[in-house]
Amino acid sequence: MSKMWGGRFTKKTDPLVEGFTKSIQFDKKLAEYDCIGSLAHINVLKKAGLLTGPEYKKLEGGLKSILESAKKAPFKVDDAFEDIHSYIQHLLEKKVGKAALKLHTCRSRNDQVVFDTKLYCLKNITVTLDLLSGIVKQLAKSANANARQAMPGYTHLQHAMPVSLYDYFGAYVEMLSRDAKRMSNIFDNIEIVMGAGALSGTPIDSSKYSVKMMPGCSLCSPANAMDAVSSRDFIIETLSALAIIGMHLSRMAEDLILWSTKEFDFIDIDEAFCTGSSLMPQKKNPDVLELIRGNTGKLYGNLMSVLVMMKGLPLSYNRDMQLDKEPLFSSFEIIQQELKVLAGLLPKIKFKKNNIARQLEDECLYATDMADYLVQKGAAFKDAHTIIGKLIAYKLKSGKEIKKMGNEALKKFHPALSSKVIRKIIDPEQSVKSKRSVRRKKR
Ligand code: ARG
Repeated sequence: MSKMWGGRFTKKTDPLVEGFTKSIQFDKKLAEYDCIGSLAHINVLKKAGLLTGPEYKKLEGGLKSILESAKKAPFKVDDAFEDIHSYIQHLLEKKVGKAALKLHTCRSRNDQVVFDTKLYCLKNITVTLDLLSGIVKQLAKSANANARQAMPGYTHLQHAMPVSLYDYFGAYVEMLSRDAKRMSNIFDNIEIVMGAGALSGTPIDSSKYSVKMMPGCSLCSPANAMDAVSSRDFIIETLSALAIIGMHLSRMAEDLILWSTKEFDFIDIDEAFCTGSSLMPQKKNPDVLELIRGNTGKLYGNLMSVLVMMKGLPLSYNRDMQLDKEPLFSSFEIIQQELKVLAGLLPKIKFKKNNIARQLEDECLYATDMADYLVQKGAAFKDAHTIIGKLIAYKLKSGKEIKKMGNEALKKFHPALSSKVIRKIIDPEQSVKSKRSVRRKKR
């Protein structure tokens, strides 16, 4: 096994050091992007007159065939190599012989690894955006399918005011649409550069680095080589955006877990998306949703580990940066898996409308509507708040329903109150409709 370095060493690397420093076990995921980078690089070398036509052809043929196998997962690698860059160099030497020794002209793995990781991000942001758009569409569908279904809305997890399932799902449509925008902005900010060398550039004229790599993606030389090899803010931004998506999905998971409990009993989650208990025969558990909630810890941890790893690193490249890849891969995998599993689970949720309707009978949910009614009748809101507060306190103490109190009792609280008015106010659909300040979008 040949290394990409070693000339100045007289001793063999200690096997413990080999094992401790290698990254091939995880950076093999970059194989495809490494080949694409090398194909762009040989273009630069050819333009700069550093490769002959036949050498270029040989290298191109070799790299393209490695690229083909790298695209077919799983790409088998030899774990004895230090990293994916050394392994592909080795494969190329085996395929095309001596010409491969020119591949690493005017480049460094420091430059290469950033290039590969940026391409990996672009690809995976695209995949994630596709999955996100599927979920957003599904949520909009659920919103429309249940457009008129009211439900109790909560603050502090206590009955607050009626809301609609349209608005509930709409809330997540808004959150996830912002997430998609955030991810697209990150995509747009990632600049694909090459030519930083190890840290100070290469002798090749920067104009030669203007290379078309693939549709929608071109290469240029960096504005600053030290920045190019040693900045990882694109990874931190990506991890942050993924952590935020995870947080949103976790909140939705928590709602659905609560709604599937005997205590709420608002929804039924399809059996195919639940698991059982090895001891308690009756159990149908929402493990999928619990894992979505639990994964948030990993997503935040991944973001934190890269933020902390980068803090205080002197310019420019340091080997610490090798540790950015596992958290990045992990966060993308988690979010993509979560979005895939939710795409199956969400459309199969069944709403138990009778149980929801029973909760909507709680007259306390309409207390604010009653106060708003008194305001319409000329009361100051603070007074209306106190009057309805007293009415609620009386109801709770006496156990009487406000609906059944009769005009005489109601008018003691405020002359504008009557059974007829109360019956009109205690209506979930009416309550939702009466909130006109929201620009409800068509979904
Ligand atoms: N495996 C390294 C990384 O991920 C690649 C760059 C290695 N560069 C070096 N000078 N040792 O960061």
